[in-house]
Amino acid sequence: MRKPFIAGNWKMNKTPSEAKVLAADLVNQLKDSTNKLLVAPSFTCLATVAEVVKGSNIMLGAQNMATVEQGAHTGETSVLMLKDLGVEAVILGHSERRHIYGETDAMINQKVKLAIAHGLEVLLCVGETIDEREAGKAVDVVNTQLEEGLKDVAEADLKFVTIAYEPVWAIGTGKTATPQDAQDIHLAARSKVADLYSKDAADKICIQYGGSVNASNVKELMGQPDIDGGLIGGASLTPDAFLPIANFNK
Ligand code: PGA
Repeated sequence: MRKPFIAGNWKMNKTPSEAKVLAADLVNQLKDSTNKLLVAPSFTCLATVAEVVKGSNIMLGAQNMATVEQGAHTGETSVLMLKDLGVEAVILGHSERRHIYGETDAMINQKVKLAIAHGLEVLLCVGETIDEREAGKAVDVVNTQLEEGLKDVAEADLKFVTIAYEPVWAIGTGKTATPQDAQDIHLAARSKVADLYSKDAADKICIQYGGSVNASNVKELMGQPDIDGGLIGGASLTPDAFLPIANFNK
């Protein structure tokens, strides 16, 4: 049985003082949750939020990291810095990184391997654009992103990996994939993991859905057999919006 995993991606929102208040509220209100939970604040908020979530059932995630450990990489953040702050997981390959900042599958794969080598969990984001979907290429795009993103990752290390399927056209737009459309891609992604690794690996891996998840659509999405959790953007920014999602199965 895969444990539901709900993650909040705060993106470039919240100052450290605002993040502290939000994190404290979530720690307090989610203390009885049995779901796997994570918040991913921006880099400048990580140290503050680390103090707040320490010892709680909410994991601390980062939204990105550099392809290499350290050195002359102005403006980048190293896995060593994240680890030192108590970060436990990192979102990699988010579509905003791919499409606004030009991250390639090869760069994302370097990051995935580096994160795992340092014992960080990875939320590997995949998903097609609207043009790719309309051209009937959604499954191919996701398969390629999985194949490239997980290249040279050993089956034993998949325990560090969560896949987040986020159709680009559904992110921050208010358009959600229908539960059936999402389920179809989740099933295809799970089959891809079976092809790349094994049926056992496919059965175990957690696949989150992301893209305009909210309190009204979360139950139906999570009710699909291959949807194991959610990566939540806009609706992770206030307790009112996030708590019903984090508690969808209560
Ligand atoms: P959204 O973002 O929930 O605001 O659509 C999801 C994400 O990008 O992770």
